[in-house]
Amino acid sequence: MKKTVLVSGGAGFIGSHVTVELIEAGYDVVVADNMSNCDKTCFEGVKKITGKDLKFNLVDFCDMEAVNKLFSENRIDAVIHFAAFKAVGESVAKPVMYYKNNLESFLNVLEAASGHGCHNILFSSSATVYGEPDAVPVTEKSPRKPATSPYGNTKQMCEDILQDTVKATKGSDGEIKGILLRYFNPIGAHPSALIGELPRGVPNNLVPFITQTAIGKRECLSIFGNDYPTPDGTCLRDYIDIVDLAKAHVSAVGRMLEGKMKEDCEVFNIGTGRPLSVLELVNAFEKVNNLKLNYKFAPRRAGDVTAIWADPTLANTEMGWKATRTIEETLEAAWKWEKHLAGYENV
Ligand code: UFG
Repeated sequence: MKKTVLVSGGAGFIGSHVTVELIEAGYDVVVADNMSNCDKTCFEGVKKITGKDLKFNLVDFCDMEAVNKLFSENRIDAVIHFAAFKAVGESVAKPVMYYKNNLESFLNVLEAASGHGCHNILFSSSATVYGEPDAVPVTEKSPRKPATSPYGNTKQMCEDILQDTVKATKGSDGEIKGILLRYFNPIGAHPSALIGELPRGVPNNLVPFITQTAIGKRECLSIFGNDYPTPDGTCLRDYIDIVDLAKAHVSAVGRMLEGKMKEDCEVFNIGTGRPLSVLELVNAFEKVNNLKLNYKFAPRRAGDVTAIWADPTLANTEMGWKATRTIEETLEAAWKWEKHLAGYENV
C-alpha cells in the first residue's frame, strides 16, 4: 500500500518542491499550511507539475485541535515538518512570536503524531546550528554553537525536542523516530519554473535579491563585505539546489519507512560539499544567463559567518543521496522562475 507523508508548510519554497518529489517517488502527500508566508502559487504549481488533483489543507500547526483533526482524517505514516517562521532579522525583532510559533507548531506535530500511531518525524533544520565553525567543512559531529538569533535558537531547540522525544518514547506505542536534515543554502527553483521562492518584501537572501535586481525590481545588489579572509574577500557558502534538496527528503523518508535507520534519531548535512563565494555566484549567474548584474560592495552584514560548507559524506553513503545539479543549472532555473513571476512568455 502507498505510504502517506504529511508535509507541514507544504505550500512554501522547500515544502512545495519536496511535495513534487514525494509524489513523483510514489507517495501520497497531505499538504497543510496556514498560508502565513505564501499564497497558492506554489500549491497550484505542484498540481500542474505532478498532474495530481491534490487537496489543500488550511491548517495552522499552532492550533492543536486542527492538527489532531488532520491526523484523525488521514492515516499518516511520516511527517516532514517545515511549518515555521524563517526570517533571521524578524526573529531578532519579534522573539516571542518566533518562539511561540516555531516551538508550539512542532510540539503539536509531535504530540499528535505520537498519539495517532505515526512514528516517523523528519525535521527541517539548518546549518545555522553550527554558527561560525572552527573548521570547514562541517560534519554532523562538528559542535553546535550558541545561536545568534531566536530563529537559530528555535532550530536548535526543535532538534533537542525531537532527540528527547525519540529517547522518551522508545519502545512505547507512541514511539517516535527522527531524522534531522541540516540544510546549507537552498537556492534555485523547479526547472519547469512553476514553483520557486516567493520572498515577501525586500529579499534577505542572496539569490532572490540577485534575480530581482536582474529583472529590474531592485536597483543594485549589495555584496556584504569584500574584506573577509577568503580568496576573493567575500563569504563562502554551500549553495544547494532546491530540487536536489527535495530529493534528500525522499531518501530520508524512504530510510525511515523501510526500517533502514541505524539510530533512532539521525542527523544529516544536506549540502554539496563545494564552497562558493558570493562573487563567484554572482559571476556564474551573469555568465549562464548572459546578462550583467548591477552590484556594488557594501559593509559586512551583522551576524554573517565567514565561511561554512558541508561535508555531505554521511548523506552520500548512508542515504545514497548526492547533489547532482550544477550551479549553472540552478542559477538558470532561478532566473527562469523570476521571469515566470514577471509574466514573461516562454521562459
Ligand atoms: N549576501 C549579500 N547580499 C545580499 C544578501 C546576501 O552579499 O543582498 C551574502 C551574505 O552576506 C552571505 C551570502 O550572501 O555571505 C548568503 O546570504 P544568504 O542571506 O542568502 O544566506 P545565509 O548564509 O545568511 O543564510 C543561511 C540560511 C538561513 C539561516 C542563516 C543563518 O539560508 O536559513 O544562514 O545565518 F538562517
